[in-house]
Amino acid sequence: MCGIVGYIGTKKACPILIDGLMRLEYRGYDSAGISTLEDNYISNMKNVGRVKNLYDLDGINNLNGTIGIAHTRWATHGKPSKENSHPHMDNSKMFSVVHNGIIENYQELKLFLEKAGYSFLSQTDTETIPNLIHYYYSKDTNNDDKRFLRAVSSACKDLNGSYAIEVICKDYPDLMIVARKDSPLVIGSGINENYIASDIPAILSYTKNFYLLDDNEIVELYKNKINFYDINLSKIDKDLKSIDWDAALSEKNGYEDYMLKEIFEQAHTVRETIGSRLVANTPVNFDDINLSKDYLESINQIYLVACGTAMHAGLAVKPLIEKLCKIPVTVDIASEFRYRNPLIDNKTLCIYISQSGETADTLAALKLAKTCGAKTIAISNVIGSSITREADFTVYTHAGPEIAVASTKAYTSQVTILSLLALYFGEVLGISSKDEIEDIKNELLLLPEKIQTVLENIEDIKEFAKKVYTEKDIFFLGRGVDYTVSLEASLKLKEISYIHSEAYAAGELKHGPIALIENGITVVGIITDHNLVSKSVSNIQEVITRGAKTLIITNQDLENKNYDMVINIPKTNPFISPILSVIPLQLFAYYISKEKGLDVDKPRNLAKSVTVE
Ligand code: G6P
Repeated sequence: MCGIVGYIGTKKACPILIDGLMRLEYRGYDSAGISTLEDNYISNMKNVGRVKNLYDLDGINNLNGTIGIAHTRWATHGKPSKENSHPHMDNSKMFSVVHNGIIENYQELKLFLEKAGYSFLSQTDTETIPNLIHYYYSKDTNNDDKRFLRAVSSACKDLNGSYAIEVICKDYPDLMIVARKDSPLVIGSGINENYIASDIPAILSYTKNFYLLDDNEIVELYKNKINFYDINLSKIDKDLKSIDWDAALSEKNGYEDYMLKEIFEQAHTVRETIGSRLVANTPVNFDDINLSKDYLESINQIYLVACGTAMHAGLAVKPLIEKLCKIPVTVDIASEFRYRNPLIDNKTLCIYISQSGETADTLAALKLAKTCGAKTIAISNVIGSSITREADFTVYTHAGPEIAVASTKAYTSQVTILSLLALYFGEVLGISSKDEIEDIKNELLLLPEKIQTVLENIEDIKEFAKKVYTEKDIFFLGRGVDYTVSLEASLKLKEISYIHSEAYAAGELKHGPIALIENGITVVGIITDHNLVSKSVSNIQEVITRGAKTLIITNQDLENKNYDMVINIPKTNPFISPILSVIPLQLFAYYISKEKGLDVDKPRNLAKSVTVE
């Protein structure tokens, strides 16, 4: 999705802005641009394609302004082109604006502005914003130091939809105005300089001190002063937050790609997720949510709501929560949940899972549950992200910044934290076997070591990827939690290799998919649950008989039954085996993508954080 960077200070803004945009490249985009302000003149430069293409523009190196705004665009309204890229300016070139989000009433605003004499150069919704600001500015006869602020605030009141905006004005060379509603924006505070970004990693190498904006807030940013206002321009106070992410975590550290680095970080990140919540022979610690036994006994259903990989993490942990709590769990796709009038009341607990904490559908689904009286828990990786500010309770995964679009370490951390949460609920309710709980706890503590073992044995998976990277279709089969891993493995493969793939519950094979199995097709089987081994093995035999090539991921001692490749992973408790079994399949997708010569970290059409519907 679109990315925003801004700078106001004493240094040349242009290199800082371009550096910040490059750090946001992982979000996915199709064009980029910057505006800087110097000698009461706004220079506006934009180009399609990669951020580095900005350096091809004449005069870019001569931009000496110390205040500037910048943007990477992911087209929504109007095709990727120079005209449609941001920043957009008003007709008189007084204001320059970058915008993330969607202005839903832009046609209406455009008509209104056209009647007032404004014209438009692009097909974007965004271009209405600078013109609307200019409209209010020119109507305001009070030429004091708040005229710019008042114009932005009036314009924001007319906007329906979502926005994070940065605005500069040639009449105010020392001031930038930013505002947000339903689209993320943070302000990084420095000495005699301030930074703005849609995502923390863009400016993490400059500061670790951040103000997190809430919806309907407007900010005046000077190099040495920041004023926060609500939409009606009443002043508000904000706390400065320190984010302890290490800037180096946003670098590749010698790995060829972020995705590979993030896969290899998983022993460490799972350890970080466990943190001090789990210590042998002690109850799991969730002081931060502290739900009482009475409350947990009163609830009659739990929803796990999320999108993409985060939703798969929910699917992986549903069986454990149901087993330990005896409460029915529904895993739902946020974009479906929010529009299907789900049954929610004060006996419902809703848990929202989102790496970024900014996914528009997940956020909307959370707001919906709150209006119905449910308690809400946010599981997020990003401190202070939108869902964490909306939910009643927040639990962080502490996986560190995830840059590759295809999520890997966030998934294993989400499964880990949700498993810990299941154990916590189980212990508070006290209705399941203590031995079973202790076994899962002990196995969770051993996971980092076992993940390391998986990561030290990757040659076979690499070799199998080399054999099948030209395939058109690949199937994944599993039962129980192995089916949930199949779904995630299939998604990973689609995302970064563009190979069509399907995941099926192995028992469903005979109900249709087996018709697609023909000589030479590749089928991946995941077999980790000892209760289901013989069933899964039979299903795999059925595809082998029909000529399939098979890759098996297992922690069971399988007899050799003509499999083409078997990847053995360490044994663990079946409920948490997805944390191990997914790893070879993340690598499978990765090596196939590499063999095909694709851009692993930035797959086509995809965005890291989907902040619009
Ligand atoms: C996008 C990303 C996926 C991610 C999903 C949900 O589709 O490409 O990797 O799983 O959004 O993102 P979230 O930040 O809510 O976990």
